Amino acid sequence: MTATGHPLPHDAPPGCPAHRGAVRLAGLEYQQSPSQLYRALRREHGAVAPVLLEGGIPAWLVLGYSELTYVTNHDELFARDSRRWNQWERIPEDWPLLPFVGYQPSVLFTEGDEHRRRAGVITEALEGVDQFELAHNCRLIADELIARFAGSGSAELMAGYAHALPMRAVVQMCGMPAAGTDTHRLVDDLRISLDAAEGDDPVAAYARVADRLRRLVEEKRAAPGPDVTSRMLAHPAGLTEEEIVQDLISVIAAAQQPTGNWIGNTLRLLLTDERFAVNVSGGRLSVGEALNEVLWLDTPTQNFIGRWAVGDVQLGGRQIWAGDCLVLGLAAGNSDPQIWPEGHVGSENAAHLSFSNGEHRCPYPAPLLADIMARTAVETLLDRLPDLVLGVDPQELTWRPSIWMRGLDALPVHFTPVVG
Ligand code: HEM
Repeated sequence: MTATGHPLPHDAPPGCPAHRGAVRLAGLEYQQSPSQLYRALRREHGAVAPVLLEGGIPAWLVLGYSELTYVTNHDELFARDSRRWNQWERIPEDWPLLPFVGYQPSVLFTEGDEHRRRAGVITEALEGVDQFELAHNCRLIADELIARFAGSGSAELMAGYAHALPMRAVVQMCGMPAAGTDTHRLVDDLRISLDAAEGDDPVAAYARVADRLRRLVEEKRAAPGPDVTSRMLAHPAGLTEEEIVQDLISVIAAAQQPTGNWIGNTLRLLLTDERFAVNVSGGRLSVGEALNEVLWLDTPTQNFIGRWAVGDVQLGGRQIWAGDCLVLGLAAGNSDPQIWPEGHVGSENAAHLSFSNGEHRCPYPAPLLADIMARTAVETLLDRLPDLVLGVDPQELTWRPSIWMRGLDALPVHFTPVVG
């Protein structure tokens, strides 16, 4: 039973004794009250649960904080190249998770020295970002986005603000203007390829993104500037143009969705929790504390797929076989009863797993840059629209139907219209 009294959905793939009693990793519970569900899963299955992905494909969900730390610290046992998966013959061509697990020649799937080479280039290129300039650019983008709805007295903040701001900021960081037809087309295509709506063609959009970034790489080779793309091109590791294109796509994609949802989830917390009352009377807790609390309680990347076992190995009392897939249950790790025995999940420190851990974790300067974008987005909005309130009852807010990303479908708000 889950904490809310519903039976956990059990099922097992044919002929798989390890996955007898496996839990289907889907359903409303993951959207509404995931931390209770993860605690229930952990009580029933321990730190490593047998789960079924879409289409009944077996995998392991790593729920324990210390098991997650172990897995992510031991690349030689649990590695990133998904081609070693022992389930490929069961995966249909239109499997919905294919965009996340299908091998691509990007930093995400590289291992060992090759990964250090690729990740090193990204890290150094991101380290070159001037943080004051980034904050300044984010404020300009925020002002431009807010100006579009400020006069109307109401807005939907997810599409028009929370997701739009980091997307533009990252594209600009990579060397394109924050606005303009060309940038808008790229931003639209990135949105479609990462998060297609009905009627969109994500494959065609992805091809256009790759073409545009190929052109960007050529432009920057001819005329370098103070941007991530130019620094990647100039790096002594000598990445090929195609490697740079692949890794630019990874950087932009890895930045956009989680940062957008981080902004949305923080605004939701500020607008619904009286500890953070955002109006003139002032909240006791700051925006920084709200951002950090979200990383513990409502982290954008709830589950990350994943790692693949290099050989047969034991983990959390389970027998894992070579080629098995492990899903990193980052949200579950953050609320693990082993680290919060009293059931209390605080926001006092940054020891959460929201940026993962180990060799493949979100590369060092990226969390800092994401923090600048998210903090500037939230603070600028509250500054420009100080009497912002939620436009619906808090219970009417709905979460996107995804077990991977935690973000709102929409965040409607009201405020006094601002003219000029
Ligand atoms: C400026 C914003 C960001 C950038 C440029 C960025 C970039 C990246 C890159 C390049 C990777 C791949 C690392 C590798 O495989 O070696 C990555 C991984 C990851 N990022 Fe970020 N990211 C950003 C924001 C965020 C945010 C806001 C979150 C969540 C709160 C997040 C969570 C993660 C996670 C969970 C991984 C997977 C790590 C793993 O495989 O263990 N990132 N990020």
